[in-house]
Amino acid sequence: MECFIIEGPNIVTGEVKISGSKNSALPILFATILTDDKCIVENVPELSDIKTTYELLAYCGKECFFGFNRFEVSQSSNIKTEAPYDLVRKMRASVLIAGPMLAKYKRVKFSMPGGCAIGVRPIDIHLDGFKKLGADIKLEEGYVVMSAKHLHGAKINLKFPSVGATENIMMAASLIDDLTIIENAAKEPEIVDLAEVLNKMGACIEGAGSSFIKIRGKKRLFGFKHRVIPDRIECGTFMILGALSGRRLVIKHGQPKHLDSLIRKLKMTGVFLDIDDEGTIIIDSSKLIKPVNIVTKPYPGFPTDLQAQWMSYMSVANGRSIITEKIFENRFMHAAELVRMGANINIKGNKAYIEGVKKLKGATVMVSDLRAGAGLVLAGCIADGVTKVRRVYHIDRGYERIDEKLKLIGVKIKREEE
Ligand code: EPZ
Repeated sequence: MECFIIEGPNIVTGEVKISGSKNSALPILFATILTDDKCIVENVPELSDIKTTYELLAYCGKECFFGFNRFEVSQSSNIKTEAPYDLVRKMRASVLIAGPMLAKYKRVKFSMPGGCAIGVRPIDIHLDGFKKLGADIKLEEGYVVMSAKHLHGAKINLKFPSVGATENIMMAASLIDDLTIIENAAKEPEIVDLAEVLNKMGACIEGAGSSFIKIRGKKRLFGFKHRVIPDRIECGTFMILGALSGRRLVIKHGQPKHLDSLIRKLKMTGVFLDIDDEGTIIIDSSKLIKPVNIVTKPYPGFPTDLQAQWMSYMSVANGRSIITEKIFENRFMHAAELVRMGANINIKGNKAYIEGVKKLKGATVMVSDLRAGAGLVLAGCIADGVTKVRRVYHIDRGYERIDEKLKLIGVKIKREEE
């Protein structure tokens, strides 16, 4: 198992390039199941989650090629309409195979994606949507078995603006020759990117990015070529690092307009942040970090995927701040690890009360989930002394070669076999 050894404190300066969005690439790759034509997806980040998706698509009978951030998918002969447990357990987003598979082959069997460190993460909103589209759903020994003689359009009101459920229903509805409405839909930029792809394939989707999406599906969908949007969570992670210890940190290839809530909060902490008209972000940390509270919300609110990184930032702010986590029920696993680095954090329910301290101290810390790992790496970058970050495989799921990118901007970090 690999770990990171980080020698702190570090000043970060120079240029970092943001990769393509993991959470946009994943649904788009599953959307290739909706057609037998060749599909080309560019700016796909090299991540273990993408590798898992490759394995899943290949298992289901797709011919895949992935190299130089370019992913090509074409049809092969033997189709399997099943997503096996040992692949689904590696990546919850495997559930996104369900909508396309159901619409294309009228049947799909997939393992219930287990929960993970951040919560139970049920899929009831997905299944409720499929039922409304006409699917018959059974649960058999931990597998969901869906089939349909005939799928039809529907008006689906989501009880919560679930990102995955919105994507799954949108993909299924795109191959149903009828009208489907999704109300209370998720509004994330990744939904807009997926809708653009589905429209390129021949569907007619209006309203993506708002809470009211209209999908007029088609009997047949075609191949496409698409370049994935930048990863707003990777970009936000480096922006927070710049706020912590940046001296003219330049962040390129990001899409600042996807990060309005973070930018507003960063400016309130007193950081210098400039954005030029190509979207290049320049950040200088401020001597005194003003404490600023956040509440995580569905987009365009403050992203839950930047909550851990914000907690590391507030750990060395000049005063008290409060973080309220409203999306997942157990997303404070990184707090205990930060306390071991000298942070002063108390958790009460879904709130974290943080008293900023002068300095964090290097320690050996354990990563529990992807974004907690990112938060601990940020803490290690500014802590006094050596921080050993264990189980970095979690981080490799969502950050393309993060250690190499950090080295390039001045962080003393190395990846070691434990
Ligand atoms: C997506 O997960 C992202 N993953 C997550 O990023 C992100 O944290 C999350 O959206 C929220 O923004 C991908 O896009 C691959 P949800 P998803 O369905 O779709 C509950 C990362 O680090 N819920 O919007 O699974 C659920 O339990 C990952 O990149 C139901 O109750 O998120 C959670 O509390 C982590 N029933 C809340 O809704 C359902 O059927 C938000 O979940 C579905 C969800």
